[in-house]
Parts: sequence; structure tokens; C-alpha cells
Amino acid sequence: MWRPPERIRWKPDGGRWPTPEEAAASHLFSPIDAGPLKLVSRTWVPAMVPWRATEDGEVTPEVLAWYERFARGRPAAIVVEATGIRDVPSGPLLRIGHDRFIPGLAELVKRVRAASNGETRLLIQLIDFLAIRRRPDPQTFFRRYLKITDRHRQALGVATDDEAREKLTALDDESLARALDPREIESLKVGYRERVTDMHLPHVRDLPKVLPGLFADAAKRAETAGFDGVELHYAHAYTMASFLSALNDRTDGYGGSRTERAWLPLQVYDRVRSVVGPSFAVGCRFLAEDCIEGGNTVEDAAYFARRFAASGMDFLSLSRGGKFEDAKQPAIGEAAYPYTGPSGYECMPQFISDARGPFGRNLEPAARIRAEVRKAGFATPVVVSGGIHGFAQAEAVIVDEKADIVGFARQALADPDWFLKVRLGRGAEVRVCEYTNYCEALDQKHAQVTCKLWDRQALDEPDLLRSRDGKRRLVAPAWTP
Ligand SMILES: Cc1cc2nc3c(=O)[nH]c(=O)nc-3n(C[C@H](O)[C@H](O)[C@H](O)COP(=O)(O)O)c2cc1C
Ligand code: SF4
Repeated sequence: MWRPPERIRWKPDGGRWPTPEEAAASHLFSPIDAGPLKLVSRTWVPAMVPWRATEDGEVTPEVLAWYERFARGRPAAIVVEATGIRDVPSGPLLRIGHDRFIPGLAELVKRVRAASNGETRLLIQLIDFLAIRRRPDPQTFFRRYLKITDRHRQALGVATDDEAREKLTALDDESLARALDPREIESLKVGYRERVTDMHLPHVRDLPKVLPGLFADAAKRAETAGFDGVELHYAHAYTMASFLSALNDRTDGYGGSRTERAWLPLQVYDRVRSVVGPSFAVGCRFLAEDCIEGGNTVEDAAYFARRFAASGMDFLSLSRGGKFEDAKQPAIGEAAYPYTGPSGYECMPQFISDARGPFGRNLEPAARIRAEVRKAGFATPVVVSGGIHGFAQAEAVIVDEKADIVGFARQALADPDWFLKVRLGRGAEVRVCEYTNYCEALDQKHAQVTCKLWDRQALDEPDLLRSRDGKRRLVAPAWTP
């Protein structure tokens, strides 16, 4: 993972923990409604993919254990990991692109309800993503993948495809830059990646036709499975964020100006809304800043926030960064990963940081976006996350009106009981996240995600769920209040 060159080491500190009375009187533990979603407090566990589904995208006992463990800590809401809305193979990522996924997801809802005594509201994040391929071996790329055209033959001064392929294998970088176009160079250097601007690809051109229906069907299934709502994934490196992005220059009315870039996300929302009942919450997660050159700024995000609020979304969850454009070059045989560059750092900041530090980097942008939404007359709750781990820190987010709900992703992974411990005045027992990004490295390898603070503890517990290699426990040890 990329880290700021300053390499300043920060030590997370939970700060002073409240007594039960202080917690009860706090803003953080006061209720809030996000549309029909009645939250007992302002606490929220944002989506985290733990790579525990089957290769067919089905819920497994390991998926159930992951969410059940979070629910035992009683956060007000949990957002289930990014879940694919299409019925296509996507590795061990949860899917909701067909009715056959409903029973497994319904079981997940049941387990969370039981583990939290009905207190934790459960949403599911709906994602669409475009194709990405692994970085090829150059020889294979030239001999097999590259589509040879007249342009190549002319640039290389050869007559046949075979001659062109042969010649390309021997060229240095400078000559390659003359013979190939920038997208071909990208396919060679980091692997082929589709973009929403690839209008020559019929399935990409037709995204505005198919996505509203796909998202709506998925949301309907989520409602049938018993979820309290859905979070439309409009953040990071995926399809919908790419439509919102300032880099989207589609010319079909879905790219260019902010109004046009917001068009599909709004249409998706409208369609979803039209198929679910009034007690089902619908909101989205998007970026407060893209954190890449030429990407969206806070002003763009504030505009989108106003439009989303005006359209009736029940909550706006803000993340930041996490883009492909500045991702690290992957090794041959691996795919680029959108959390490996500077924008990835902004998304999941690590303890080795710059002078600003890794805690709350998204707070100021969130505050500005929230203020714009309020100025426009909307009370839509704003969720923010990024390096939040202490009670006083989280309380200040609400008191200072930076956001209305606080997301704890890695802190909840480090200690799913954070919420219960703090409420009961037992904050001193919190296992504070060290922001090492050990979990994130597992995520990158698509390995089952765990936390370094607990995954080797009490491995002799009976009936323990373990990682595939048997070396790690898959959920945090139990804590009894
Ligand atoms: C293992 C892991 C998986 C993640 N998966 C998702 C995801 O599926 N969808 C999403 O919007 N964000 C995802 N994130 C980002 C988190 O939701 C959150 O925005 C980020 O970790 C920053 O918050 P934190 O500092 O509280 O961890 C993931 C983060 C981690 C560590
Ligand atoms: S592995 Fe644990 S301590 Fe390290 S960042 Fe992830 S949750 Fe925090």
C-alpha cells in the first residue's frame, strides 16, 4: 500500500472513556431516524468485504459468523459488504443477482436480529463493477491478447499480424509507446480495465438502460430477505462512482457536466425507490473527494449530495478515494487494486501517515457537504467514516455537526464490542484498532479477512471457525459484559 512520504507514525488512542451515565447522555448514543430507519444511536458499521462467500456468491457459515459477531456488539446499523447485483461469477463476493440468493441472505438477517436482540438495523450494499483483467505476461499479451490492426502494422512496418506480434515482443518501452495506443500500453502494464466511457463496447454503452433494473431487482430481493434497507454503492472505483466522476466524458447525456453525471445515479435511485415499500430505507455511499488528478472535488460531492437529498434518499454515507487511476502497478498475473495508491490511502488511511494523520481525514469535507445539504433545506443524515476509534472523537463528530452518524469500519473489526463496551462504561476494555491495514492486505489477496489483534488468540477454543489454512480464527473472541 502507498503511504505518505513523511512516514510519521501515529498511535491511535481511544482517549477518555465515558461512564455509563455519560454515554447515555451523549449525542453519539442518542437515536436518529434515517428515513424509515430508526437507529438507536449514531453508530454504524460500514461495508467491509470479508471474502467469505462461496465461489458462487452464496452466504456461508463464515459469512453468518462475521455479521453475527458484529451484531453482538450492538452497533445501531451494519451495512453488509458490497454485494454483486448481477448473476455472474465474481469469486467469493456475496451476490444478490438472482432469487436463489434470497434464502441465504434471509438467514443472515435472522442471525443479526437474534444476536443484537433486534437492536441493530441491517442494510446491504449493492454494487456493480466493470471487467478488469490481470496484468499479462508481455509475451502472452503480444502473442495472444493484443488485437492487431492496420495502425500496428503501419507503425511497425510489417505486412502480417504474425510479423507484428513477433516485432512487438522485441521492442523497448520507448518504441512500444510509439507502436501502441495509451489503452494498449495500460493493458500491457497493469492489465485491461473497462471504463464507463468505453462507448464502443455495447454492454458499456447500454449501462444506463440495464443498471436501474438490475439495482431495483436486487433491492427488491434485499427487502424480501428482510433487510431494513440498501446502500447503493456509488463510491470508490466501481461503475456508479465512475459515472459520477469528473473523468466521465460520455456524450450520451450521462457524462460531462455534474448534472449529466448525476443522471444515472438518480435514475437508479428512483427505480429502486419505486419497487420497495415505504418502510425500506434507500441511501447511497459516495465519495466526498475522489483524491485523484482531475477527479471529483468536495464541490462536486456537495452538488451530488444536494441532488441525492432532494430526490429523497434516506441517508448519505461519505467515503473518500479508492480509485484505479493511481493504483500501484500489480505484479504479472495479478489485477490492479484500487486501494494501493494515494487515493487508496485516503480511503483506508494507515498509521504511518503525514502531518494530518490517519484519523478523521474525511471529517472536514463531510462537514462542508453536510452544511450544503442543510443550506438547501434537507435534513438527510450524513454518515462519515475514516480512522474513528475513540469515544470523544466520535462524540465531537456529532457535536461539531461534521456528520450525523459515525462509521467505524476497522475499529469494529478490531473490536466488535466497542459499542457495547463504551455504552456500559467499560471502554477501558476496548481493543483499539492500530490501523496497521493487516486486514486490508488480506482483503487485497481476497483472503478471509480477520484482525491481527485477535486472529491468533485462543485457538484451542472448541468448535472454532478457522481460516482455510487453519491458522487464524475467523471471528473475534467472545466478550461477556
Ligand atoms: C477489509 C475491508 C473491506 C472493505 N470493503 C468495503 C466495501 O465492501 N464497501 C465499501 O464501501 N467500503 C469498504 N471498505 C472501506 C470501509 O468501509 C471504510 O470506508 C474504510 O475502512 C475507512 O473507515 P475506517 O477507518 O473506519 O476503517 C472496506 C474496508 C476494509 C478494511
Ligand atoms: S488488522 Fe486489526 S488492528 Fe490492523 S487495521 Fe485491521 S482492524 Fe485495525
